[in-house]
Amino acid sequence: MSEVLDQRKIHIALPSTGEEEWLATRECFETGWLTQGPKVAAFEKAFAEKHSVQHALAVTSCTTGLHLALATLGIGPGDEVIVPAFTWVATANVVLYCGATPIFVDVARDTYNIDPQQIAAKVTDRTKAIIPVHLFGLCADIDAIRAVVPDTVAIIEDAACAAGASYKGRPAGSLGTAGVFSFHPRKSITTGEGGMVTSNDGRFADLAGKMRNHGAEISEEQRHQGPRPYLLPEFNLLGFNYRMTDLQGAVGLTQLSKLDQFIAERQKWAAYYVQELAEIPWLRMPQVPSQGQHAWQAFVCYVDPETAPASRNELMDLLEKMGVSTRPGTHAVHMLGYYQERFAFHPQDFPGARDCDANTMAIPLHNKMSIDDYAYVVNAIKALEK
Ligand SMILES: Cc1ncc(COP(=O)(O)O)c(C=O)c1O
Repeated sequence: MSEVLDQRKIHIALPSTGEEEWLATRECFETGWLTQGPKVAAFEKAFAEKHSVQHALAVTSCTTGLHLALATLGIGPGDEVIVPAFTWVATANVVLYCGATPIFVDVARDTYNIDPQQIAAKVTDRTKAIIPVHLFGLCADIDAIRAVVPDTVAIIEDAACAAGASYKGRPAGSLGTAGVFSFHPRKSITTGEGGMVTSNDGRFADLAGKMRNHGAEISEEQRHQGPRPYLLPEFNLLGFNYRMTDLQGAVGLTQLSKLDQFIAERQKWAAYYVQELAEIPWLRMPQVPSQGQHAWQAFVCYVDPETAPASRNELMDLLEKMGVSTRPGTHAVHMLGYYQERFAFHPQDFPGARDCDANTMAIPLHNKMSIDDYAYVVNAIKALEK
């Protein structure tokens, strides 16, 4: 099988960074303003505009942003927060950080997102929030979710994968009480580590902004620019240090200016994959939304275990040998050791998540791939059948 292919190495993801990001950090080093300051403020403003929200707060990661959002809403012991069972572990971990209980809901095998039809049965009078995940860049069906949870339940979008995605004409991050994005290098735009909390709720944003900085009444930048920079602010809340550095803010601003181009390229190549691979009977293509824009953070296929020439893991081994990196889509959180032990879960408790954990396969899609790379991936997958 491998003799049909010239040998190369195609990564599952690579950040698209270079000279511009490098130069963008220069001013920070020259002025000496390295922690949260003017670059972060400019990044926040541009990100808010891009996602049609009034407020954006840069943080150290999507994980800390999700924690910040829950803490700002006052979620604590005795409260329940609904999360999908197939997602990155962070979505559920942040609920535990607050001392609250994650209540898992299964996902749909076709969209990989939380199944709105299974949510109502999990709502109790302790439900304080739900964290729908826009997995791999496809927005969760927020209107269907809103319809089955009481108005008092906050919707926190886990938009880790969804910068630039939209749902019925509305951008990800503007669909609930708050949205939280990730700038980890596997995402479309990166700041190394980093995240952004978005909201249209002024009171939430004001409180979250303080909680991000230990509960300080004013930011460092405001203090330094104010009339009495020598006085420390008031601290009336228990908060955290979840501040992004200005170095990252400078990189983020540069990356954000390329987001539209990155997504357009990803859309083009996702369509190419669908065109080339859709005929393979054992490999189901990811769903392309009719109601919005997929941000294609990852191109995640589903291997049919009944008809595939080998198991998903064996196919991943073969592709790795041909120089094509793949990954499972993500994991079923209820099957992870910590969660199994703490909550006595069984894999069959959430069969959709269990099956997606076993059978999803992300293939390379990023902005540093060439036409030849894409053709090579297609040929490698077609060669699996021979
Ligand atoms: C769905 C989802 N939520 C949360 C996170 C956490 O993001 P971060 O690494 O920025 O904390 C990720 C990261 O991969 C993710 O995919």
